[in-house]
Formats: sequence, C-alpha cells, structure tokens
Amino acid sequence: MANVLIQFAHPVLSKSRVHKTLLNQCSNLTNVTINDLYERYPDLYIDIEREQRLLLKHDIIIFQHPFYWYSSPAIVKQWFDLVLEHNWAYGSKGNALVGKKMMSVISCGGSREAYSPEGSNRYTVNQFLAPFDQTATLCKMTYLPPFVIHRTHRLAQTQLDEYGQQYRTMLLALAGERMELPIFQGKDYMNDFIPTLDGQLN
Ligand SMILES: Cc1cc2nc3c(=O)[nH]c(=O)nc-3n(C[C@H](O)[C@H](O)[C@H](O)COP(=O)(O)O)c2cc1C
Repeated sequence: MANVLIQFAHPVLSKSRVHKTLLNQCSNLTNVTINDLYERYPDLYIDIEREQRLLLKHDIIIFQHPFYWYSSPAIVKQWFDLVLEHNWAYGSKGNALVGKKMMSVISCGGSREAYSPEGSNRYTVNQFLAPFDQTATLCKMTYLPPFVIHRTHRLAQTQLDEYGQQYRTMLLALAGERMELPIFQGKDYMNDFIPTLDGQLN
C-alpha cells in the first residue's frame, strides 16, 4: 500500500460546492491523509517541521484546490516557499522527497475548450501547471497527470457526485498501488481514463 497525502487548500470551504463534494468522498479512506492547510494555518504561519514530517510519511502528495488566477490559492505558494527547503527538498544534499509522486487535483470555472491555444485562456491547464510539474522534477519526484474538473458553475450536484466517485476510485487505486507509470503516459488528465479504471485494474 502507498500512503497518500492530500494537501487541501480552499479559503472558504463553507461556500464550496466542488471541493466539499470531493472531500466527502475521500474522508475515512485507509492510507489517505487530508491536511487542510487553511484550517490549520488561517494566518499562513506554516509549521515547517510538521509539514516536512508529513511529507516523509507519505509516498504520493496531492495538491487539491480550486484554480485561482491560473494557479492556486495563496497558501499553496506560501507552503512551497517555506516547506521545500534547500538541501532538504532540492539541491546537492536535498534528497528527502526522492522517488515520491506528486499531482494536482483542481477545479476550474473555465471549460476545457477555453484552456487551449484557440480558447480564451490561450494555454492548456497542463501548461499553467508547469511550476508544479517542474517543482516536482527539481525535488526528484514524479509529477502525475492532474485530475481536473471544468465549468464548475455549470455542474449539477449529480455531476459533482460523479466526479466525487471518480476521485474516490482514483485515490483507492493510488493507495492500492494499482496505477503504475505506463498507464499515465500520453494522458493530459487522470480523469480521461478513470471511468474504466476499476475494470482495468481489478
Ligand atoms: C479568486 C478567484 C479566482 C479564480 N480564478 C480562476 C481562474 O483563473 N480560472 C478558472 O477557470 N476559474 C477561476 N475561478 C473559479 C474557481 O476556480 C471555481 O469557482 C472553483 O473551482 C469552484 O470550486 P468550489 O465550488 O469548491 O469553490 C476563480 C475563482 C475565484 C474566487
């Protein structure tokens, strides 16, 4: 079994539809830890030692948050700035995270079509996520394709529930080490193959 850490960031969870639904699906899963960053650090004073200890205990690190201004809510940036220290996470002596996996789970108001060279946002979601991808690479981790939910304001609760089920399926497969690297190759989003995941991997 792999240990999965969800680094969760939503500044107003009480008003969330998407992430509240996703969280409901992944609470109480074996080997999955949820670390709610805004709940724990409302003033953004991050406990670096605690966060580093958490990273060491887990194999797969997920950053789950709404897409804000083509990136993450502010606390995620603060977390990266403080926790990923030189010669701990990266640098010639920085090997604490070697071999771990990292991925993003995000929700966007914009449609998938809008996130394309022809669309209004001009770049793909994967292109916007380049800082996460490269940070993982710098820290000698493997960056997995993101799980992305689009057009959030148009989604009915039943559709959100389906994403919640997909998310749960993905987490169970990751924790059960039933998804290995070849399966990810050539995929933009994790979601693109999760509907058939149970069938493929059982
Ligand atoms: C401050 C702010 C910035 C946002 N920036 C973006 C953005 O850059 N791209 C996008 O597609 N949606 C953007 N949105 C829409 C949110 O991503 C969307 O409302 C959220 O994913 C819905 O999830 P929730 O129901 O859990 O809050 C933004 C929303 C807010 C409040």
